[in-house]
Amino acid sequence: MGTALVTGASRGIGREVARTLVRDGWRVLSGVRDPKSAPPDTRAETVDMADRASVAALAERLRARNERLDALVNNAAIYSGPARRIWDVNVLGPLLLTRALLPLFAPNARVVMVTSGLGKLAAQSASLVKRLSDPGLSLADLEQLAREAPDGYGASKAALNAMARVFAEDLKPRGILVNAISPGWARTDMGGRDAPRSVEQGAASVLWGVRLSPDGPTGGVFEDGRAIA
Ligand SMILES: NC(=O)c1ccc[n+]([C@@H]2O[C@H](COP(=O)([O-])OP(=O)(O)OC[C@H]3O[C@@H](n4cnc5c(N)ncnc54)[C@H](OP(=O)(O)O)[C@@H]3O)[C@@H](O)[C@H]2O)c1
Repeated sequence: MGTALVTGASRGIGREVARTLVRDGWRVLSGVRDPKSAPPDTRAETVDMADRASVAALAERLRARNERLDALVNNAAIYSGPARRIWDVNVLGPLLLTRALLPLFAPNARVVMVTSGLGKLAAQSASLVKRLSDPGLSLADLEQLAREAPDGYGASKAALNAMARVFAEDLKPRGILVNAISPGWARTDMGGRDAPRSVEQGAASVLWGVRLSPDGPTGGVFEDGRAIA
């Protein structure tokens, strides 16, 4: 336990993750667009994940306060809208935020990229599969891909999965575990009322990645603790 930053903590899965971490004794920083939307007993940290300057400002504030992060949950995302915006929120934002926060991570910190089963690599276009499966894939390549914004939500989550793999490799020497984790189809504003899983079930899947023991996996894609892609 320690300090965790959870983006998209205003509602849905992110809010439940933040609330559970508070109950478990964590100090929680809620990355939210509207500070009034942060869950109780968390510290609101205003950030718009679609806005490069806002993401940089959040990282700078945390640095100025000498924050040390034991967990980062990149949860904020959108499902629909223009591809440009989907990639900004779902891919570029998490990439820029995670990269800017690297100096603040505690040894053995946990990073969770909240992904979706729709990000399965096999479901993506041949050209995207080729780019994302390149063993030499770098953060610069992913940044370039995010600027191109090919395709929509599923493709953005496939890129997020690849991003988890790249950060995981870079952060292995520091004992930091980075995984992409799907909450499953859950009843939130995004998932809708017909989804089979509760918000609590979705959040539990994500929290598994925060609670991993030091010998836990890194660089993988999981749902309910099982590898999915
Ligand atoms: N629900 C599902 O069935 C399902 C399935 C698979 C994966 N997921 C993934 O699970 C995660 C959480 O989804 P959810 O179902 O909880 O979605 P949700 O209910 O729609 O909540 C989305 C969250 O993201 C935040 N957000 C959106 N755009 C933002 C921006 N530009 N800057 C900062 N925050 C922003 C929202 O904040 P505001 O309140 O300010 O809009 C909100 O807190 C997402 O990564 C999603 O892709 C969900």
